[in-house]
Amino acid sequence: GGREKEYVIGISQCMTDDDWRQAMIREVGIEASNYDDLKVIIKDAESDNDRQIEQIRELIDRKVDVLVISPLESEPLTAIAEEADRAGIPTIITDRKVNTDRYTTFVGANNYELGVTAGKYAIRYLPPGATILEIWGATGSSPAQERHNGFRDALADRKDLTFIPVEGDWKQDVVARRLREKAFSQPIDFVFAHNDVMAIAAREYFLSIDSAKGKQLPVIGMDAVAEAGLQAIADGRIDASFLYPTGGEQVIRTAMQLIDGKPVDKYIPLHSGIVGKEAAQSLLLQTERLLNYQQRIETQRTRMDELLNRFLFLKDSLLVITLL
Ligand code: FRU
Repeated sequence: GGREKEYVIGISQCMTDDDWRQAMIREVGIEASNYDDLKVIIKDAESDNDRQIEQIRELIDRKVDVLVISPLESEPLTAIAEEADRAGIPTIITDRKVNTDRYTTFVGANNYELGVTAGKYAIRYLPPGATILEIWGATGSSPAQERHNGFRDALADRKDLTFIPVEGDWKQDVVARRLREKAFSQPIDFVFAHNDVMAIAAREYFLSIDSAKGKQLPVIGMDAVAEAGLQAIADGRIDASFLYPTGGEQVIRTAMQLIDGKPVDKYIPLHSGIVGKEAAQSLLLQTERLLNYQQRIETQRTRMDELLNRFLFLKDSLLVITLL
């Protein structure tokens, strides 16, 4: 483009050791590769609020051109997000929220609506007096709170239901452990997990205590990214999920608009949808095709670079020859 210097986007990730965030990083990389004069720094706080605050401070001190924050928990990350804003750094909050409106824009799906859709989906599986197991993501993170609120609001007029909450911290192994520790005194009719890996852990647990009943139990999650989620739906290990787009592409595109001094909306919504078995199978095929395309594009890019280098080299040597 017409920019004169190299620009830096600093991304502060609360963690990166799961499929959803790996997919996000991949999307960021693909979109960022469209700009020659762009450098992206990704910092991984490894699920530690204090660490994330420190890393954001480093990015502020470095005066990155755009700061992107996917906060671990809302409250602890609020002050540092405001600090970035005060320092005059355009700041994009993504996926999870902070408790302030002092930021440039928020990129993410509507988690409350996702929860409502999950609740509406659940209704058809809920006999009178049903018991629902709700497996929570980290209780201090906004998607967990909003998915919960939406789900409960959608079922608000069903006074006959019993809800059992379990804190899963978004993690498969945590849920596996907590469910083993918990002795359920009543049968469970439906499982709503705030993400797919926790839904998978729930199915495995219920299969392990009663394989026939465990198979029948409706279990839903959220995310629907390849590997873990989509594969589990396609295999029938979880019954449904809801697309929770990573927004990697939109984050980079929005950052570039900010760098170019263009106005951006305060909220950039990412769209969602329900994913059942058939949709999961098609989405898996499509994901594979897209990855193939991407690989071919990269091979072609490398070839072009080689060609270009050869050409430049020829030009240089010609120049040398002429000078001689
Ligand atoms: C990944 C994740 C997703 C979830 C999102 C919520 O780290 O836990 O599974 O949808 O974060 O912020």
